[in-house]
Amino acid sequence: MTSMPDPADRVLARASLAEGNPTGWFEQLYTAAARGEAEVPWTRGMPTTDLIAWAAEHPGASRRALVVGSALGDDSELLASAGWAVTGFDVAPTAVEAARARFPESTVDYVVADLLNPPSDWHHAFDLVVEIMNIQAMPRDFRPAALTSLAGFLAPGGTAIVSEVAEESTDVETWQSPPWPFSRAEVESVAQDGVTLVSLQRIRGGARHWATFTR
Ligand SMILES: C[S@@+](CC[C@H](N)C(=O)[O-])C[C@H]1O[C@@H](n2cnc3c(N)ncnc32)[C@H](O)[C@@H]1O
Repeated sequence: MTSMPDPADRVLARASLAEGNPTGWFEQLYTAAARGEAEVPWTRGMPTTDLIAWAAEHPGASRRALVVGSALGDDSELLASAGWAVTGFDVAPTAVEAARARFPESTVDYVVADLLNPPSDWHHAFDLVVEIMNIQAMPRDFRPAALTSLAGFLAPGGTAIVSEVAEESTDVETWQSPPWPFSRAEVESVAQDGVTLVSLQRIRGGARHWATFTR
C-alpha cells in the first residue's frame, strides 16, 4: 500500500524547524494557501465553538481583550461583537492582512507580533487574554518563554483562557507533531508571576484542556 504524501503544513514545519525557526512556516503556509497551493488546516470560517459559548456569558463592556494567534480573525471578531475592545495578533503578516481584508469594517486592531518577543506595553494590559491552540504549534523548547509572555499580558482582575490538545488523550507512540500537546501540569504552569488558576476541565470528549486564570 502506498502512503499518503505529507500535507504542506507538515512539510513546511519540518523545514522551518530544521533551520531552528519555530514560526517561519506559518507565513509560508498562509502565502502558499493564498496561491491556492496549500490548505491551512485550522481555517474553519467560524469562531471556536467553545469560545462562542464563553463569550455569550461574558460581555466585554469595552474592556481590553488580546487574541493570541488571531489567524484569519474569527475569534477576534466574535469577542468584538460581544463588546470587547480587541487586539488580535499573529506572527504571520499574511494572516493579519487577510483578517483585515475579511473584516474591513472591524473594530479589531490586527497586529503582526511574536508571542516570543511581544511589545513591552502589552505587559499587564489586557482584561481578557485568549490562547487557543497556538503555543502547542511551537516545539516544547519554546513553551516556557511563550507561557511567560502569555501570563504577562494579563491585567489585575482579568481572565486568561488557555485551550490546547490534551496530551493525556493522545497516543504518544504514534502522535505526529505539530502540534505538541499539553499535559495538565503544563497548562497549570500558566499560573506564574501572580497569575492563579481558576478552572481547568477537559472538553470535546477529553481531547482538549480548557483552563481559565486570573491575576
Ligand atoms: C494552529 S493556528 C491556530 C489559530 C487559531 N488560534 C485557532 O484556534 O484556530 C496557530 C496560529 O498562531 C500563529 N502563531 C504561531 N506562533 C506564533 C507566535 N510565536 N506569535 C504569534 N502568533 C503565532 C500562527 O501564524 C497561526 O495563525
